Amino acid sequence: MTSTTLLHLDSSISPDGSVSRALTARFASVWRARHGTAARHRHLDLAGDPVPAVRAAFDALGRRTERKGVLPLDDIALLARTPEEEHEWALARPLIEQLLAADVLLLGAPMYNFTVSTGLKAWIDRVTFPGVYRDAATGEALLRGTRVVLVAVRGGGYGPGTPREHCDFQVPYLRAYFEGLGIAPEHLHVVTAELTRAEDVPALHALRPLAVESLAHAEATLDALAATL
Ligand SMILES: Cc1cc2nc3c(=O)[nH]c(=O)nc-3n(C[C@H](O)[C@H](O)[C@H](O)COP(=O)(O)O)c2cc1C
Repeated sequence: MTSTTLLHLDSSISPDGSVSRALTARFASVWRARHGTAARHRHLDLAGDPVPAVRAAFDALGRRTERKGVLPLDDIALLARTPEEEHEWALARPLIEQLLAADVLLLGAPMYNFTVSTGLKAWIDRVTFPGVYRDAATGEALLRGTRVVLVAVRGGGYGPGTPREHCDFQVPYLRAYFEGLGIAPEHLHVVTAELTRAEDVPALHALRPLAVESLAHAEATLDALAATL
């Protein structure tokens, strides 16, 4: 069995009773059992231990870097002109390196107000820096081989043909983001669990069987993915 790395991100604000956390934990457990002790499993809780929001010095360093083209990470550090820029880069670099080192990125993403959580957005802004996902010598996309498992959970239903389909700014946003980062479309696996609030919201009670079905489908899909990735 070859050594491999799972980067596991959770972003639900609920430590208990979170469907996305339960689903990512399920995937990670099957994945770990399959890959054995040689595999690395790194877990980040983006809600409990949030990544600081990016600040002006992050943007200033990013713009200066962008003018130079694609640079190795060590060279970006040398472009910092102020302690604030050094600080912003020191917060970003380890997270960028974690992403570059991951063979599989497992992401638990609840829908909040039609899009992703603040904690996940802060991580996205922090790890997105000019040129860092391209090889400085060849220009090759460094995340081309990275597999992404996106576990998208939402209280309502947003499937094709439903009245709220047009309000889904969660999955289309994350698809566009990861494709922009250089993830190959065939390596982006989106698993949704919908109608998680069907028990709580009286108007959704009639949809409870669909919620059960959606969760069971998500679990089976994740088990199958964990058995192959
Ligand atoms: C702040 C907040 C905003 C939410 N906004 C939406 C929403 O816009 N659409 C929706 O379908 N569900 C929404 N929900 C419900 C969550 O998507 C649902 O509870 C989901 O299961 C959360 O993921 P979790 O179970 O992993 O915590 C929201 C929940 C919270 C706490």
